[in-house]
Amino acid sequence: MAQPLIAPSILSADFARLGEEIAAVATPGPTRADWVHVDVMDAHFVPNLTLGLPVVRSLLKSTDVPVDCHLMIDDPDRWAIGYAEAGAYNVTVHVEAAKDPVKLAKDLRAAGAKAGLSIKPGTPLEAHLDTLKHYDTLLVMSVEPGFGGQSFIADVLEKVRTARRLVDTGHLKLIVEIDGGINADTIEQAAEAGVDCFVAGSAVYGADDPGRAVAALREQAAR
Ligand code: DX5
Ligand code: ZN
Repeated sequence: MAQPLIAPSILSADFARLGEEIAAVATPGPTRADWVHVDVMDAHFVPNLTLGLPVVRSLLKSTDVPVDCHLMIDDPDRWAIGYAEAGAYNVTVHVEAAKDPVKLAKDLRAAGAKAGLSIKPGTPLEAHLDTLKHYDTLLVMSVEPGFGGQSFIADVLEKVRTARRLVDTGHLKLIVEIDGGINADTIEQAAEAGVDCFVAGSAVYGADDPGRAVAALREQAAR
């Protein structure tokens, strides 16, 4: 498999210093993040509220690290396109919230972004395989979306294994991404199950040196 991708989630960063927090994982070399993961929450789809398009626009101007927007919002059919048009590298919507996910993927791609589809821990993969043919990334949630610092739900690795198999046999063509509870204790089992891209919030921004945490996680995932 290709080199694992590490995507620090700024949900655990200091929101008053977001530019510096991203810069801490943007220096070229092993401590550089592959993507920066931005959690957009609307206090409706999930019980938490974070940030929206104006902040993402500013972040996009402040960094050359590809920005991975994870939209935990109602009505992504209406709002997701703005993130793609702003220049996000990947825009992920939740299958539980999207009304027409196939059209949404086409629109996101037409706007120049990769299209991502996320499934909550209790959402089965099988029901959405046809939809996933239109997507570039599959974000498997390994915690209930809404908050950082929760414990990893290992049961979701079965969905990762299924997705990995479908990618390796050519039935799907996408990056398998995992989000929630990824740290030094859990990343190896996720890597073994076939994850390509690892989101880590508290494990990166809770560390004394976020860049070193990125490098350490990537090394562990590659083993
Ligand atoms: C949770 C968010 C995650 C969160 C992960 O709903 O989607 O991206 O930041 O945080 P950790 O890595 O601390 O579980
Ligand atoms: Zn996320």
